[in-house]
Amino acid sequence: MTDGKRVAAPGQQLEDRGNNRSHRPSSKAFREFIATNWEPRPSDLPERSEAAAFAAARRARLGQRFAGERLVVPAGQLVPRSNDTDHRFRPHSAFAYLTGLGTDQEPDAVLVLEPNRDDPGAAHEAVLYFRPAAARDTEEFFADSRYGELWVGARPTLEETEALTGIRCAHIDTLADAVAKDAGQVRIRVVPQADAAVTALVAKVRGEVGVVADAAVDEALAEALSEMRLVKDEFEVRELRRAIAATAAGFDELIRSFPRAAGHVRGERVLEGAFGAKAREEGNGLGYETIAAAGNHANTLHWINNDGAVRGGELVLVDAGVEVETLYTADITRTLPVDGRFTEPQREVYQAVLDACEAALAKAGEKGARFRDLHAAAMEVIATRLEAWGMLPVSAAESLAPEGQYHRRWMVHGTSHHLGIDVHDCAQARRELYLDAELEPGMVFTIEPGLYFRADDLAVPERFRGIGVRIEDDVLVTEDGAVRLSEDIPRAVAAVEAWVTDLLGG
Ligand code: GLY
Ligand code: MN
Ligand code: MN
Repeated sequence: MTDGKRVAAPGQQLEDRGNNRSHRPSSKAFREFIATNWEPRPSDLPERSEAAAFAAARRARLGQRFAGERLVVPAGQLVPRSNDTDHRFRPHSAFAYLTGLGTDQEPDAVLVLEPNRDDPGAAHEAVLYFRPAAARDTEEFFADSRYGELWVGARPTLEETEALTGIRCAHIDTLADAVAKDAGQVRIRVVPQADAAVTALVAKVRGEVGVVADAAVDEALAEALSEMRLVKDEFEVRELRRAIAATAAGFDELIRSFPRAAGHVRGERVLEGAFGAKAREEGNGLGYETIAAAGNHANTLHWINNDGAVRGGELVLVDAGVEVETLYTADITRTLPVDGRFTEPQREVYQAVLDACEAALAKAGEKGARFRDLHAAAMEVIATRLEAWGMLPVSAAESLAPEGQYHRRWMVHGTSHHLGIDVHDCAQARRELYLDAELEPGMVFTIEPGLYFRADDLAVPERFRGIGVRIEDDVLVTEDGAVRLSEDIPRAVAAVEAWVTDLLGG
């Protein structure tokens, strides 16, 4: 399908040829006919979203941090996948966090937090600028394949989005004036890299009033928005629980597909597809590309090709997460025996990783523990086990010292990251608030140690070669300790064997 906006002509420029295949209707008769005889649009407005009150509280917190300043938070643009086809739209995470708007809402929208010029200490007013639904007598309605109602569905009206979010809404055509207003007297910050057009608009406005470009101004806003998200509110925890429950259902479906996967030349894709179908049914989709890695593929950390066979007797490492409509995502890894039984070497490696998980979880429950301590606790277990297997050229203690680190040959990645709207959440937070920070109630992060023994690794005992194991859970810190949000997804050896066996009808 194509909208055929441009007309083919001799000497036509390359960029104008994208729609040469189209047959767009354009007669006057057609235009008059298509503009008429439609039912009036429904006049009832949507209910206020559950996220709205939480988003308002987040905006208020951000406003206090940047009192008296204009804050510009774009949703971002549609991203082309190839030529004139776009990826499904996903708003920038900061925009989703501050508006409560999740999937598909609303390309090119921009949230502006406008300070009170008379009283800089007073709360900002939030205004959401976007392009509302076009009338049925417009070209957009039938001819615009990116935005038109006949192509991608109706856009919301200003009133509808106002009712949904509780944020005053205004037409995107008024954004430029709103950003430029009193520009020399009010500091403007924009979330960088969210929307090149909005960043350029802010740069132009600054230039016009002689404000010298300083990247740190906008980076401070991105940093604050990342750091605010380190501690989740009640709504976020609820959404993460929903994402994890959907992910549990996805893992069940994936295990049920084992027999079909085992008979398929690209069995890993069968697993990926089974999980992906459930993710689309239960939520918005995947929070990140699924890793479905059978046998030695598990030792390629980001194995997303998933084009290998799944053989009896092997383990499959599956790292997958459902993202719900509010964009919160789970991030879960399970390593599963295809036949429902671990072999002895597989069990040994698996148990070592599981013990490392337990050590990190116990640390997460200790008062005063720092984020970095989780990794240290897991590494202590891993190094000690590798020492017992005779794999370290030094003692475990020497390996654990900063100048050693031999054990990291078999787990080069970190043990934990924050989790939320982004799978790697809060990525712009400063180190002292992330890695070096004390854990606080409301933080949600993964614990995901692993051991990766490649088939071609001569430093690994032969019986372990080709085995890769990671176990990943999502953890919430509460006043009473650390809670595994993913505790309903089996992970102990016997529980995993029973899970697989039961679902396979054995
Ligand atoms: N799935 C990506 C990660 O575990 O960090
Ligand atoms: Mn992870
Ligand atoms: Mn993961």
